[in-house]
Amino acid sequence: MEFSLESQNPELVSTDCVVIGVYEGGELTSSAQKLDSASKGILSEMVKAGDIEGKTAQTLLLHKIDGIMAKRVLMVGCGKKEKLTASQFRKVINSAVKFLENSASETAHICLVELEVPSMGSHRKIRQIVEAVHFVQYRFEETKGENEPPAHPLQKISIYHEDATAASATQGLQQGNAIGLGVSLARELGNLPANVCTPDYLAKQAVKITHDYKNLKATVLEQSDIEKLKMGSFLSVAKGSREAPKFIVLEYSGADKNTAPHVLIGKGITFDAGGISLKPGQAMDEMKFDMCGAASVIGTMKTVGELQPKLNVVAIVPACENLPDGNANKPGDVVTSMSGQTIEILNTDAEGRLILCDALTYCEKYEPASVIDVATLTGACVVALGKHPAGLLSNNDELVEDIKQAAETSCDRVWQMPLWEDYQEQLKSNFADMANIGGPGAGTITAACFLSRFAKKLKWAHLDIAGIAWESGANKGATGRPVPLLSQYLLDRCK
Ligand code: BES
Ligand code: MN
Ligand code: ZN
Repeated sequence: MEFSLESQNPELVSTDCVVIGVYEGGELTSSAQKLDSASKGILSEMVKAGDIEGKTAQTLLLHKIDGIMAKRVLMVGCGKKEKLTASQFRKVINSAVKFLENSASETAHICLVELEVPSMGSHRKIRQIVEAVHFVQYRFEETKGENEPPAHPLQKISIYHEDATAASATQGLQQGNAIGLGVSLARELGNLPANVCTPDYLAKQAVKITHDYKNLKATVLEQSDIEKLKMGSFLSVAKGSREAPKFIVLEYSGADKNTAPHVLIGKGITFDAGGISLKPGQAMDEMKFDMCGAASVIGTMKTVGELQPKLNVVAIVPACENLPDGNANKPGDVVTSMSGQTIEILNTDAEGRLILCDALTYCEKYEPASVIDVATLTGACVVALGKHPAGLLSNNDELVEDIKQAAETSCDRVWQMPLWEDYQEQLKSNFADMANIGGPGAGTITAACFLSRFAKKLKWAHLDIAGIAWESGANKGATGRPVPLLSQYLLDRCK
């Protein structure tokens, strides 16, 4: 896909399709007005005739209009002008781009940056358009033969912007492209079945991206290395599986080596059957997505590789399977984590925290500027927040604000939950320093409380992505979230 910025008047652009907006009530955007006068009022006629009302995401395609160079004009409903929010803008963009992808147009000229969204500058709008194109163009093909590709896939997109050479506009294009690539990688890793996407496969993919970008280095710790580090908690989960665990470390150095890195940790359970505390069969296939945290941090490292920001970043992925086996953890087992703290495993299905806790301890050696772990950690988070925001819990208010800010900018939402001391008592164990579950109430919070006990020396936040990492039902598949959020968070850290 080729993206460019274009400042020529829209009626003069030779393209398969020019895309313009109509607000609810029929008001035309400024580019639409230009096309309207060039065509002697065809567009306003369509509105008057009732062919398009301007409701959000409505589309109407016109062909061969005199006075307009483009072969087609796609009119897109933008909703109420006064109510244009960032998420509304995204809906408009997505419907336009989806329409284009399934249409006969192979090139398009999109005039939607001019929509007035109070909270969004052109930079962000350009980025959203580019990200949306990547999103609709992604297709899962690896294990699916008869997938029919669109007859006319999009090949060239220009975006209308008065000041096409402005540095911020060009940067928006670049960032959108880099984030789009990171999201697509995260989706692909998430979608691959667990018999393909094993811990070893994840490790190989992490190594692979280091060949494509400079300043990226991968280290894969094997079983014996992990044993030497005494990650007893992580290893206890891995030992119920025939696949060897991998502890994957990706280091990006874009700044002076004395600059403290930002650390991202991703849960890499390549399949979660629950272990001896076996999950019910219903939708268990979706537990192949239990490595979406890992996929999102690896995807973010691809974005970082593309953009080469001036900072240091470390991505850490503990990867293994959680299966029932003669050698698997049993309820009541007590294990010793790398930190030395002991854990009574009351439910083997609460395995994510058991692998993340050792990764948190491991990352202390970097003396990081901040640490964010990303995990499909609790079903309770889906119950509490549904599929729109990730759950955010942290031991540092400044970090919370930075993440909320990045979430806003990237349209990749989070919602904070409390991490009050009061919840800690739910993790009390009679046989170890803590239990790995906290009873029926506040499952997302007690999971984060567990992690917080390993993050005392860190400026740390936890993102529970159980509700946002994939879609179920007819559109079953990984979303690539929160790559946009993590990428934005890192970009915001560059001075
Ligand atoms: N990977 C699951 C969480 C999950 C479940 C995410 C369903 C998305 C959809 C995690 O390992 C898990 O099983 N958590 C348990 C914790 C419980 C045993 C305290 C859960 O949420 O049921
Ligand atoms: Mn589980
Ligand atoms: Zn899990």
